[in-house]
Amino acid sequence: MQVKDNLKLFIDRKDIKKRVAEIANQITRDYKGKEPIFVGVLNGSFIFMSDLVRNVKLNSEIDFLKLSSYGDRKISSGNVRLLKDLNCVLADRDIIVVEDIIDSGLSISFIRDLISNHKPSSLEFVTLLYKKTTVKLDFRIKYIGYKITNKFVVGYGLDYAQRYRNLKSIYILKN
Ligand code: IMP
Ligand code: MG
Repeated sequence: MQVKDNLKLFIDRKDIKKRVAEIANQITRDYKGKEPIFVGVLNGSFIFMSDLVRNVKLNSEIDFLKLSSYGDRKISSGNVRLLKDLNCVLADRDIIVVEDIIDSGLSISFIRDLISNHKPSSLEFVTLLYKKTTVKLDFRIKYIGYKITNKFVVGYGLDYAQRYRNLKSIYILKN
């Protein structure tokens, strides 16, 4: 049995499912006639990504990149590193970056610079969660699942020290 004593339910899996379908429908409408590449940010986005792409009714491609900045802590080290680069050709393609959560905005800014260098024809971002109280960005995140205040959350791909990613709902980690 997985221990959930220190967790408080935050967003139930049924609500997540509904919201993911809404975002997917919006993307389906916005990218009609196009064949976007979804770029997932490992590890956190893997579950959101898989639910999202299966709900978008378009031909699409997927790829993943991996960043490191948190280690086993709850606060960003402020130092983003690329641990795994993309394998696909981004030039003249429509790119949609898929994030689990945007906190400071450091990771997504790093990714934006990285992908922009490859001259895609368009670049947009989708994140399931967006910490409105901490994010500092000078560009727009087009698709946002939920705007939340500053709390540490786990589940549905999100971890604390690599734990809890497999939970179906999203929880607040107490303390
Ligand atoms: P940022 O660079 O500060 O925006 O942090 C983004 C990354 O930090 C996310 O992709 C997550 O992997 C991780 N992160 C930020 N906040 C949380 C949280 O509340 N729970 C789990 N991971 C988080
Ligand atoms: Mg992440």
